[in-house]
Amino acid sequence: MRESVKWTSVAALVLLPFGAAWAQPVFSPSQDPLAGARVFGTKGCTKCHSINGIGGKVGPDLARVQRFRSFYDLATAMWNHLPKMAERMQQMGIARPTLDPKEAADLVAFLYTLNYFDVPGSAEAGRKLFSEKKCIVCHTVGGTGGVVGPNLDFARQLASPMFVAAALWNHGPQMAEAMKAKGIERPAFTGAELRDLLAFLVPASSGPREGPLYVLPGRADIGRQLFSEKRCIECHAVAGPGGKVGPDLVGLGVRRSPLEFTAAIWNKVPAMAKVMEARGIPVPQLRPEEMADIVAYLYSARYFAEPGSLNRGWALAVEKGCLFCHAVRGERGKPASDLTRAKNIDTPAGVVASLWNHATVTAPAPGGKKREWPGFTEQEMADLGALLQSLGRAPQPPTR
Ligand code: HEC
Ligand code: HEC
Ligand code: HEC
Ligand code: HEC
Repeated sequence: MRESVKWTSVAALVLLPFGAAWAQPVFSPSQDPLAGARVFGTKGCTKCHSINGIGGKVGPDLARVQRFRSFYDLATAMWNHLPKMAERMQQMGIARPTLDPKEAADLVAFLYTLNYFDVPGSAEAGRKLFSEKKCIVCHTVGGTGGVVGPNLDFARQLASPMFVAAALWNHGPQMAEAMKAKGIERPAFTGAELRDLLAFLVPASSGPREGPLYVLPGRADIGRQLFSEKRCIECHAVAGPGGKVGPDLVGLGVRRSPLEFTAAIWNKVPAMAKVMEARGIPVPQLRPEEMADIVAYLYSARYFAEPGSLNRGWALAVEKGCLFCHAVRGERGKPASDLTRAKNIDTPAGVVASLWNHATVTAPAPGGKKREWPGFTEQEMADLGALLQSLGRAPQPPTR
């Protein structure tokens, strides 16, 4: 399982300083992407799928398909491909693996966060950038460079883009001033360039580490609070309500990795500092863990995006043929179980697990014809998920 090993070291690098538990009541408290990487291997997904080019070639490379934007987006992709996938598995003589809710949760965490962890950058390219972007005029690293700004050797202990993001945020305005004074044009960065620069500043000396890692390294709920407390909300919306002075930070499908976010901050700090000054808002100082919490919040805003509707869920259960086979109120004569007696569908991950494990037979269409596999949109999946969870939480009839 080379791909998961590689991934492990990247994740460890990024997540190391943050042991913070992910507390979100509706979702599992500790969705663990590392465990998910293991599930991905042990369940045979790698026989057909690659992650960034490593792995099987039967199905699509899951790091290169369109980004999964939310929990239910992924659930939908898995459900909609189930028949084709099942067919290929049969042809290849692979038994269809089943998932329990914990495995499904971890797997989703793994797939969702694939884009969150940047592939490691190139230290050599970073060294070049450090000169090209003129950092070296003012900063010393490893004994070479200027002394206008602080020595950056300390970055070796940082091991996380969040420390760099916080440092760039906090020192951004003064650094911009220093550059102006020296007649150096302030360089812009792409996320990839910053990644290389970081690889140069923070050599990945430490190997992969074990330990609990969580789906998002910061705490999204605290991040939401900070986003108000630090007054970001006065200028920025987050997928909806909020100020309009700056851009919506998760608008229109933008989902950034931490380094892309860091690059965006670097690029915009001077402009932001200017509007803040104009509005009498002091540039707030952010500690690295606060930065991580804010990014986790921005990242998760999409993960938890669609609230489902029970009413639409009921309509779908009829329309998609679920109620052809399943009872929901103890009706007799149905070929499949009463869903109010189903175990483990009281959480989103439980729903994903039971749908993944589901047989690929379909209810007959009206007129008795064979029905196509009922595909779902993301919103429909969220609606159906809401319904199944509510059924899963229904009081269980007494067992005799
Ligand atoms: C026998 C081969 C095979 C195995 C094993 C397999 N898949 Fe697939 N998978 C496919 C194929 C083929 C497709 C594309 C199906 C289609 O286009 O409808 C696919 C599609 C997908 C998609 C949708 C990708 C997209 O385009 O959005 C996801 C997600 C996925 N698989 C996840 C998994 C996971 C998770 C596992 C392991 C639990 C797994 N697959 C195991 C063959 C496989
Ligand atoms: C013209 C001089 C100058 C240039 C060029 C410059 N910096 Fe700085 N940098 C400074 C100064 C001065 C500070 C300290 C600002 C303060 O005191 O808040 C600083 C602070 C920093 C810090 C925060 C250090 C800490 O103690 O937390 C980082 C990280 C940093 N710079 C990275 C860079 C990078 C990366 C580049 C190249 C893209 C760069 N700097 C280019 C002058 C410069
Ligand atoms: C006074 C208003 C104001 C406040 C407060 C503010 N910003 Fe901004 N922000 C802006 C403006 C304006 C821009 C766009 C600058 C430009 O494009 O030149 C921006 C840009 C950004 C960007 C880059 C977005 C992109 O897509 O390029 C990020 C990231 C960001 N802000 C994060 C934050 C965070 C985090 C906070 C709170 C700690 C915050 N901002 C507080 C006004 C503000
Ligand atoms: C052709 C008949 C049929 C259709 C249509 C059907 N199912 Fe099932 N379903 C089954 C069978 C058979 C089982 C496994 C045994 C059982 O629970 O009766 C099952 C199991 C389940 C389970 C797990 C139950 C448990 O006790 O763990 C869930 C949840 C479920 N189905 C939901 C759905 C949903 C949602 C739909 C509509 C998209 C659907 N089913 C459509 C036949 C069907």
